[in-house]
Amino acid sequence: MSTPQANGHVKDLSLAAEGIKRIEWAAREMPVIEIIKRRFTQEKPLEGIRMAGCLHITTETANLAIALKAAGADLVMCASNPLSTQDDVAAALIQEYGIPTYSIKGEDDATYYSHIKTVLDHKPQVTMDDGADLVTAIHRDRPELIKDVIGGTEETTTGVIRLTAMAKANKLLFPIIAVNEAETKHFFDNRYGTGQSTLDGITRATNLLWAGAKVVVVGYGWCGRGIASRARGMGANVIVTEINPVRALEAVMDGFSVMAGIEAAREGDVFITATGCIHAIGREQIDAMRDGAIMANSGHFNVEIDIPHLEEMSSETREAREFVQEYKMLDGRKLYLLAEGRLINLAAAEGHPSAVMDMSFANQALGVEYVVKNKGKLTPGVYDVPKDTDAEVGRLKLESMGINIDTLTEEQDRYLNSWEEGT
Ligand code: ADE
Repeated sequence: MSTPQANGHVKDLSLAAEGIKRIEWAAREMPVIEIIKRRFTQEKPLEGIRMAGCLHITTETANLAIALKAAGADLVMCASNPLSTQDDVAAALIQEYGIPTYSIKGEDDATYYSHIKTVLDHKPQVTMDDGADLVTAIHRDRPELIKDVIGGTEETTTGVIRLTAMAKANKLLFPIIAVNEAETKHFFDNRYGTGQSTLDGITRATNLLWAGAKVVVVGYGWCGRGIASRARGMGANVIVTEINPVRALEAVMDGFSVMAGIEAAREGDVFITATGCIHAIGREQIDAMRDGAIMANSGHFNVEIDIPHLEEMSSETREAREFVQEYKMLDGRKLYLLAEGRLINLAAAEGHPSAVMDMSFANQALGVEYVVKNKGKLTPGVYDVPKDTDAEVGRLKLESMGINIDTLTEEQDRYLNSWEEGT
């Protein structure tokens, strides 16, 4: 592995040229970020603000980082997952865009956490997280930095769940904007982004034929909905498992087979977790799976599949192909785990398409601006993205797509704001 430098730690700086090309390609699909960047360049709303971002280092994240730098932010970046970094992008961020970046695809856990530690040495006034590792680390390891933190943003469901738990326990000491809760984030990123990129990751890792495959989707939140609908679109027979009765009903009425995890375990060819919870595929399910079953995770952390049980119950393991680990079980079955159980869409593919990250990262950029504008006014806690920001992101996206929509007439507005008129 390369050695850390003052301006970053990446696999190989000579990859920068390829990274620049790919960042520019992604920018074509990110018109909302472009509009925000142009305004930020004029107004400099983040002038001199020290920021640390712990996000997946991808072409899309690079475009966000460039916009924040254009706003005047003094920004450093690290990865939010050891397997999601695009090494050419990390190199380009340093070489071309002057953004110190600490991130190497395949870094071990010690390196991953050392990178978080290094970005904290930057003494951020604003944090930007995807999974809440940065906020957790600052509270746990560097509490002396908190007095200078204005606030932060959080990208993903798992991170919002962690931060909400922290806030409930009165442990969260600064305000965080939950970008994930914006409608222009989770309706599109979680559903269409995760749906497409999860199938992309599994396809790239295995080259499997979806048509006719029995695919078990574990969890029917926004991500699970997207995965199930995209798998069906590819011709798979989709089974959904859930613990929430309302979501399970929704899956039934969306036309999917719904059953208990143990029943699904006996049926499936491919299992995909999207729950945010530990051991969504547990030992019982693993023990019941057919020979040849494939498991992948699309949730943020690599805890959704009980990997220790797979290891314990196997006599041998080998890499069958890149991102595919074969486990020869003691009973003779062979089971396959993709991408070490880490998020398959970013490990084996490129994450969500740029067009969808455009909206997620527009919310990030505007969320950061909001935190800085409201310095000292927000008490510690987890905040939604303001409704008007969400609407503005939707409006800009539609505009960039050349789609017009209607507005209420005065008469309609009056009607909706009155209670007198009935039948
Ligand atoms: N999360 C999911 N897809 C992503 C992408 N392409 N870039 C950054 N974060 C992501």
